[in-house]
Amino acid sequence: MTVESLHSEARQETAYTTKRAYRTRDVDVTSLKTQADDGIQLKLHGVDHSARPTWKLRETVTFYRDVLGLPLIHTISARGWGHPGHPDFLHFFFDAGNGATIAFFYYIGTDRPERYMPEDSHFYSATHTAWGVDSREELEQWKETLEGRGMTVSPYTRHEGLESIYFRDPNGYPLEITLRLRDVEEIDARDAELTLRAAIELEDAARAAGEKMTDIDTVWRRKAALVDAYLEAE
Ligand SMILES: [Fe+2]
Repeated sequence: MTVESLHSEARQETAYTTKRAYRTRDVDVTSLKTQADDGIQLKLHGVDHSARPTWKLRETVTFYRDVLGLPLIHTISARGWGHPGHPDFLHFFFDAGNGATIAFFYYIGTDRPERYMPEDSHFYSATHTAWGVDSREELEQWKETLEGRGMTVSPYTRHEGLESIYFRDPNGYPLEITLRLRDVEEIDARDAELTLRAAIELEDAARAAGEKMTDIDTVWRRKAALVDAYLEAE
């Protein structure tokens, strides 16, 4: 399949615009219009790729291609582009199934900055890639096979409707393989709406008082009141 590029129609001179406000300007949601305002429903079709930098080229390729067995399907190799100081780089993609890839940037001649060093913290691990499998057997096979290949893999970890295993890549990036234990139903969406509405109201109140939210129990109590109101309105 080939699709004509929008970029060529725009007749821009560089492949990567130097007008960088889309990367640097703060997003103030209070000034943005919403779907309810313009009535346009945009649609996505799943993840195409996620990407991270690596300073370990050989280890990254060996790990993803040879240990995990994800086919290396594409590499972009380019001179630095866009704003001055952008190093030459390699950008390469491994197939993670269903059209999704995991990609890396290798910036030639650069050192890994301190702030990109891996940490043993919740904040650091919150940024991770989770791949799906279709069955218990597949999840077991991933865990046993990776352990057999010498990897340290977490125990099976159930969190509500998902069961996962966790491990790290040679860069220290957290990875997850997850099995969905049940479908997400309409009631989960309603529950999500009420949980977040409760938390947002509490966050607003805390912020107005110059304080922070302190615990999840407060959120649950506020949510309980919202659930009551919701059920009465039914
Ligand atoms: Fe996750």
